[in-house]
Amino acid sequence: MTAASAAARPGPGPAPEPTVRQVTEDLVLVEIGDRKVLAAARCPHRQGRLKFGRVDGDRLRITCPLHYSTFDLASGERTSGPACDTLRVLDALPEHLAAAPPPTPGDTPHGAAS
Ligand code: FES
Repeated sequence: MTAASAAARPGPGPAPEPTVRQVTEDLVLVEIGDRKVLAAARCPHRQGRLKFGRVDGDRLRITCPLHYSTFDLASGERTSGPACDTLRVLDALPEHLAAAPPPTPGDTPHGAAS
């Protein structure tokens, strides 16, 4: 069974795999099942690209791929990792962002591939 078919299957079973996608230059959309959270695209520590972050859907947290700061996606508070400001998070999803394009091949956590 693929992750996509598991996500579409109703009833009990494994939770759908969380996804992170870039929706504007400044924002990523984190989807954990039906929950959608908009967050800053860049980590407040040293600007790591959170579209490559690891999401813990059970704890509603995202971990930056560069130095592994972890942020609560409900409050934006850093829960571990290097000291830095709070991650900007928004719970509401503006309609015009719902149909954002899929990720661009070649993107990396450090910037676009050359
Ligand atoms: S840039 Fe995100 S933890 Fe350092």
